[in-house]
Amino acid sequence: DFQQRREQLRINKLAARFYHNILLNTREGRRGLEYLTKRGIKPETIERFQLGYALPAWDGLIKYFGSQGIDIKDLQKVGLVIPRKDNRGYYDRFRDRIMFPIEDVTKNIIGFGGRIVGVGEPKYLNSPETPVFSKGENLYALSMIKKDPELDAIVVEGYMDCISLQQNGFTQAVASLGTALTQKQARLLKKYTNGVILAYDADSAGQTATLRGMEILAKEGLNVKVLSLPAGKDPDEFIRRKGRDAFREQLTGALDLVSYKLNLAKKGLDIQNSDGKLRFIKRAVEVLSEIENEVEKEIYVQKTATELNIPVQVLKDEIKKRQFPNN
Ligand code: CTP
Ligand code: MN
Ligand code: MN
Ligand code: MN
Ligand code: MN
Repeated sequence: DFQQRREQLRINKLAARFYHNILLNTREGRRGLEYLTKRGIKPETIERFQLGYALPAWDGLIKYFGSQGIDIKDLQKVGLVIPRKDNRGYYDRFRDRIMFPIEDVTKNIIGFGGRIVGVGEPKYLNSPETPVFSKGENLYALSMIKKDPELDAIVVEGYMDCISLQQNGFTQAVASLGTALTQKQARLLKKYTNGVILAYDADSAGQTATLRGMEILAKEGLNVKVLSLPAGKDPDEFIRRKGRDAFREQLTGALDLVSYKLNLAKKGLDIQNSDGKLRFIKRAVEVLSEIENEVEKEIYVQKTATELNIPVQVLKDEIKKRQFPNN
């Protein structure tokens, strides 16, 4: 209920402050600070995102909250502590991790993400689903972007992608927290803007998530574009290597849904030789016949025909054959 919710949000806020303070003002926190510095994160960014560090101890948070007179059952409800298997006591969920507080649109801290310092598994650990936190119903940093239908939001996968973009001046960046964008997240985004640029990781998981994400966003009436990074990269790596101007160019060159699909269809094929050309036509026809808007379809058919150097009518016939296979 309302009282419980308020208490849980209060606990999260205190916890965020606790982790943040450890990161900035303690000797043990240096490990976290060094890690973030090595990744190019500036002090003002740490401030802006209220980043923190959880100690390696099993009871750092428990001890702190014990001294604050907070009921451990409430800590369990927000997922910050976990009961021991033998039911004797609890332990901290987040240990030896960089902490990312997650806000909802009203700037309440509803949960946390925690990254391991260095390598290990799992790389990220998130708050579980709790009465105040649901991963699929929020976007990281959504509370920080401008509400403006004309300003495209940039949707990335990861915390660090989002933070890194924001630090470089791309202040419309949000993260979908993992790869699966949900309808609820799309609906939330629609309240902020009319357009979204998807900038997921350039790996196969990111690609699959992009195709699915685009459909979900389009269904909410959002104008969607996709940015494609060089293989294996994510926005954070890209911007650190190539700089903000290069990223801005990528944004400008972001593709709409159909162009993105046509591009994918071309991958690995040499359309200069006839075998590659034929195989591309087959794939392109699949993409083109799915376009519902006739004007849009016409435009892309023309474009594809020109690119392949074949008569438009040939492509149109192939599309018809696919749509009405019995004729
Ligand atoms: N993620 C998660 N749990 C995991 C792995 C990933 O919740 N075990 C989510 C996190 O929000 C993460 C995002 O998926 O930020 C993207 O994952 P990945 O690309 O693997 O990590 P990066 O964000 O690139 O992490 P880093 O740059 O810190 O290595
Ligand atoms: Mn501070
Ligand atoms: Mn990835
Ligand atoms: Mn990364
Ligand atoms: Mn990544």
